[in-house]
Amino acid sequence: MAYEFIQVELEPPVGVITLNRPKVLNALSPELIGEVAAALAELGREESVGAVVLTGGPKVFAAGADIGDMAERGPVDQLQRDQTGRWAAIAAFTKPLIAAVNGYALGGGCELALMCDLIVAGDTARFGQPEINLGIIAGAGGTQRWPRTAGKYVAMEVNLTGLPVTAQRAYQLGLVNKVVPAEVTVEVAKRLGRRIAEKPPLAARLAKESVNQALETPLQQGLAVERRNFYFLFASEDQKEGMRAFLEKRRGVFKGR
Ligand code: CAA
Repeated sequence: MAYEFIQVELEPPVGVITLNRPKVLNALSPELIGEVAAALAELGREESVGAVVLTGGPKVFAAGADIGDMAERGPVDQLQRDQTGRWAAIAAFTKPLIAAVNGYALGGGCELALMCDLIVAGDTARFGQPEINLGIIAGAGGTQRWPRTAGKYVAMEVNLTGLPVTAQRAYQLGLVNKVVPAEVTVEVAKRLGRRIAEKPPLAARLAKESVNQALETPLQQGLAVERRNFYFLFASEDQKEGMRAFLEKRRGVFKGR
């Protein structure tokens, strides 16, 4: 499929999506988000891909939703266009999704990174929700995912002051997995992706689903999901292979079955 605002590369076992609107710091127009969702759907179907890296490239991740596109719109218009709802397809992606963030990840850009499962930050990364400066608030999860990850007080700080946090502070807050020199952010994310893609795909999918439940449900409900997924995996060929391989002291060969 051809894309206008993103680049998609297949580097099995990893797929790489690069946001590509450099003139506007990768501002997330509805069209661009639609393309990211379509590319994820495509990579989701691609059997050779076990994990996906989402990046904005070496300089900037994304400076937020496209302000030019939103400036004169009204609420009905926003509702009908499902301005932020279309992002749900990204959050619902079932394979492991790794954000590789250099430079600004602001507004929707930050929210996009927070929808990913792991975040590798370059030392230039800045994460923030500056929507308040525009007379609005975050609309794609910024008031919800920050408190679930960094706690209420940090969430209040970023959403009320609009000031970004540095990569190093984001690491201290548990918001990112690693901070690396900006030149190697994408490469480190790909390496992480390759490592995850070696794992049995069904187990990876259900581990992701189960961890996400922890942020969305009360404990007993989350534990019930985990238990169901745990039992379910005993129906997979990969579970038999994984355990036999361990006992036979060899590397497992997994099929995603
Ligand atoms: N939308 C549209 N265009 C944007 C943009 C955005 N979010 N962010 C930057 N741009 C454009 C600028 O208008 C500028 O275009 P021109 O060259 O045509 O003037 C170009 O990108 C370069 O930007 P700057 O000249 O401003 O670059 P800078 O280095 O001086 O500043 C910045 C960088 C601090 C990120 C600044 O661009 C900025 O504050 N951007 C807006 C950040 C923001 O408010 N994001 C939240 C958007 S709302 C949102 O995301 C809602 C939601 O929850 C989904």
